[in-house]
Amino acid sequence: AHPPPPLSHNISSCLLSNGVTNFSLPSSPTYTPLLDASIRNLRFELPGVGKPAAVILPSSQRDLQRAVACVVNASLAVRVRSGGHSYEGLSYTTENRVPFAVVDLSNLNRVVVDAAAATAWAESGATLGEVYHAVGLSNRSLAFSAGSCATVGMGGHVAGGGFGLISRKFGLAADNVLDAVVIDAGGRAMARDAMNADVFWAIRGGGGGSFGVVYAWKLRLVPVPENVTVFSVDRTGPVELIAGLMHKWQYVGPSLPDEFYLSTYIPTGSSDGNMSMSFTGQVLGPKHLAMSVLSRTFPELGLAESELSEVSWLESTVMFAGLSSVADLTNRQPGVGEYAKRKSDYVRAPISMQDTIKILRYMLTGPEGSIQLDPYGGAMARIGSTVTPFPNRAGYLYSIQYTVSWKASDINRADEYIRWLRSFYAFMAPYVSKNPRAAYVNYLDLDLGSNNWMNATGGTSNNSVDHAASWGECYFSTNFDRLVRAKSKVDPENVFNNAQSIPPLYHDR
Ligand code: FDA
Repeated sequence: AHPPPPLSHNISSCLLSNGVTNFSLPSSPTYTPLLDASIRNLRFELPGVGKPAAVILPSSQRDLQRAVACVVNASLAVRVRSGGHSYEGLSYTTENRVPFAVVDLSNLNRVVVDAAAATAWAESGATLGEVYHAVGLSNRSLAFSAGSCATVGMGGHVAGGGFGLISRKFGLAADNVLDAVVIDAGGRAMARDAMNADVFWAIRGGGGGSFGVVYAWKLRLVPVPENVTVFSVDRTGPVELIAGLMHKWQYVGPSLPDEFYLSTYIPTGSSDGNMSMSFTGQVLGPKHLAMSVLSRTFPELGLAESELSEVSWLESTVMFAGLSSVADLTNRQPGVGEYAKRKSDYVRAPISMQDTIKILRYMLTGPEGSIQLDPYGGAMARIGSTVTPFPNRAGYLYSIQYTVSWKASDINRADEYIRWLRSFYAFMAPYVSKNPRAAYVNYLDLDLGSNNWMNATGGTSNNSVDHAASWGECYFSTNFDRLVRAKSKVDPENVFNNAQSIPPLYHDR
């Protein structure tokens, strides 16, 4: 459906004349609470960060189409926000200081499950928690494969891939998208059958904010047992003991049967010279299966049956999101925000015991932070590296997510902490993937590079594609070129742009 042409170049009169009434301007008392509502990384809530000319909250697909058209017509840059969990705040800031508006999808959060067909339509503003709640309550044996934090939004998460506890069995969230509705720069809506095939490919993992606004996703739901086994255990000891566990984990985590997920998290620093390490596990099967496989493959973990519980898949999502009840899954409040900086890497060959010790010793010197190692293998390795834009499949053993975080009281030490994280990342170079040094676009990292802004609307030049390739290939490897082709088809004027968006091929205007 084509929206009527927007009537005014002024954002508020355009919205009002198009029947979009739920928006807030900087002069309104609702503006700051609405803007801050889903800001997860408090670094981007600080007063020095540029603020939008409007926060618009569409409540229907039609509202969304008209909101996009009005923002473009008012010559404002578009920032689309679903869950607001972008690591670099790209859904509600601009890096080149152009005037912009936030189109916030938090009221577009309906999830309609067809349990018989094992599919669901989820609007992009739905959180993972809202999707899990709707899916798990529809049928105890149905699930959706996506990440663990309940307040992450479907819009950004699926657009960037979406890895979670059942991805070794069923792939990423983006691997389980059957259809989608995308709104283009003119406010027009297209479903899969009206979309160029490259565009439908690009929206499933090519990163949010480049290819239009995804209004809703049609999801494939997957079968899970009525009970799954879960555990979360901590181990503490001297560096050598923790290094032994981490070293062995590299051989176990990525090669367990597909039904198993076993990740590990190691905080920086030590207490009394000891380090700690936690393991998070989920097995799509009963306790005795979990025990028999893990005690054979990873006896060093010393897992006891008393550390395991059997729960429904829905209850497991509550536990892994750090919540206490199924009802909490629909609470959209992101909880206590954080000041943080994160980076990512992939490991293709196990790191030696000697080097593992060196890595942990380096971590002893760090500020508050951690590494999280997520096992690949299984379905992650069987899905081809060009099936979706997400390329890190066969041969990628595990991902590393590096984090430093700090409190408001330490704000003046933020640069020092971020410098430490960058030096740790530099130290890790010999141990991780190379040419390109792979990274995960959902763990967005502007250190990898950013677009050269050639003009106020984020225009392109004839070398912007080469420039963007320098980080684009870290996220997408050789899939980057197809993303540029998709972008050139769906948004040749580069209306949907941000610091790391995919540029279109240059054309003279
Ligand atoms: P946000 O709204 O900030 O959007 C992110 C990007 O996508 C922005 O560029 C935005 O413009 C764009 N975008 C948003 N909605 C869009 C739409 N409808 N159409 C087009 N573009 C859109 N990842 C993972 O794989 N597994 C995990 O377990 C976790 N866990 C996790 C925990 C926590 C606490 C955080 C902060 C993050 C994660 N992540 C993660 C990373 C997460 O997947 C990533 O940050 C997502 O992009 C967040 O999506 P949101 O919609 O919440 O972000």
